[in-house]
Amino acid sequence: MIKTNKIVKDCFLFGKNGYFGNKIFYGINYPSFRIIQKQTYLNKDILKEEFEKYKPEFAINAVGFTGTPNVDSCEVNQDICWKLNAEFPYELAKICFEFGTKLIHLSSGCIFNGYDKIYDENDEPNFNGSFYSRSKIEAERRIILAGNSYYILRIRMPFDYKTEDTKNYLYKIFKYPKLINLPNSITWTKTVVDVIRTILDTRSMEVPYGIYHVTNPGIITPKEIISLVKWYKLDKKEWFKNLDEFHKTVVAKRSNVILDSEKGDKIFCFPNVWKAIESCI
Ligand SMILES: NC(=O)c1ccc[n+]([C@@H]2O[C@H](COP(=O)([O-])OP(=O)(O)OC[C@H]3O[C@@H](n4cnc5c(N)ncnc54)[C@H](OP(=O)(O)O)[C@@H]3O)[C@@H](O)[C@H]2O)c1
Repeated sequence: MIKTNKIVKDCFLFGKNGYFGNKIFYGINYPSFRIIQKQTYLNKDILKEEFEKYKPEFAINAVGFTGTPNVDSCEVNQDICWKLNAEFPYELAKICFEFGTKLIHLSSGCIFNGYDKIYDENDEPNFNGSFYSRSKIEAERRIILAGNSYYILRIRMPFDYKTEDTKNYLYKIFKYPKLINLPNSITWTKTVVDVIRTILDTRSMEVPYGIYHVTNPGIITPKEIISLVKWYKLDKKEWFKNLDEFHKTVVAKRSNVILDSEKGDKIFCFPNVWKAIESCI
């Protein structure tokens, strides 16, 4: 049983208006959240003044450039992608560690690819197929270089109830006319929010610093997800024959991989992916 101690001083939240930032803000509803706006966080000096003023206990970094409508847009917007995904986390990490602030950084599990093995937190990232993945690998490398009171949470293909949300993996599965049917490790957004709440509530005491694969245990494919919805006919969909055929239709390569999330599961008790999907559809 995890012991909690709900008296976190200040907690800075970066990227509150985003897909994850919004879920973290409203899902945790913490009185000590302080929203840091773009004008502040994109200016090193102003940001430092904010740290000097409040000396926050935690900083949550949910800022990122993920690309609209999808990750292909990172290939053509490389400057801003690199700035938000690699440079900003480094600046933030340096300031955090200078002020004794614990950093919770949202990273991506899409820095791994392939089914040669199941990747755990000790494995080196092996996916350089997109500018986005390269920027996320670089962010992790720089944060680790800057200090050690960090939590790097690796998330993959987030899903939740709101099926009209274009970032929701379930939206993609049901709305895209043609899919590739490969098994993947995926993440219920509620699991991310629960992990962050636990870190804050325990004030880190029960959760060692480090990297965590925040994916729900178990493996699932798009066809299996669709089969869980009785009213949806599988024959509505077209399917790519293989990855090569799929990759001809996109700019950046996509990662497909199974991650080992046992390290986090032992602490946070992640819901199984099948149960998580069933509660969302
Ligand atoms: N969504 C996914 O599929 C996914 C999967 C795995 C990992 N992640 C990681 O999770 C983190 C958050 O992702 P997300 O999907 O929540 O991101 P998002 O909604 O696209 O954006 C998050 C925030 O980043 C800031 N931002 C984005 N584009 C910007 C721009 N062009 N200029 C200035 N600021 C900009 C905004 O901050 P303000 O709120 O301050 O305006 C925005 O609300 C990222 O690090 C991402 O790599 C996401």
